[in-house]
Amino acid sequence: MSDCDPLARAAAKLSLGNNRRHVFLCVGDKCAPRAEQEESWAYLKRRLKELGLLGAEGGVLRTRADCLRICTQGPIMLVYPEGTWYHHCTPANLERILMEHLVGGRPVGDLAFARAPLRDD
Ligand code: FES
Repeated sequence: MSDCDPLARAAAKLSLGNNRRHVFLCVGDKCAPRAEQEESWAYLKRRLKELGLLGAEGGVLRTRADCLRICTQGPIMLVYPEGTWYHHCTPANLERILMEHLVGGRPVGDLAFARAPLRDD
């Protein structure tokens, strides 16, 4: 793949291979009202940027998901590689997840409802 390839440029822009975590936040409208999902997504984007967690230095990828197939008690968020699934990801709860998990490295026990890292077999 050459550097002129649009896929190579997109991969480089995301610093693929240099990230430590990937967060997926649901903005589907079945686990929470759409307005709440959008408020949480905007908050997550803003705070990841403010905290310097994006890009090669920050090491966090973010993805806006349409549905994570839980569809209750959202907004739902999933953090890999730990495979930590969070419920009720309001801005206040996202702030805790950002500071305690993404910065501090400790999943937030009272907001997590499943711990399911991907199998490696
Ligand atoms: S709509 Fe959010 S998990 Fe399905």
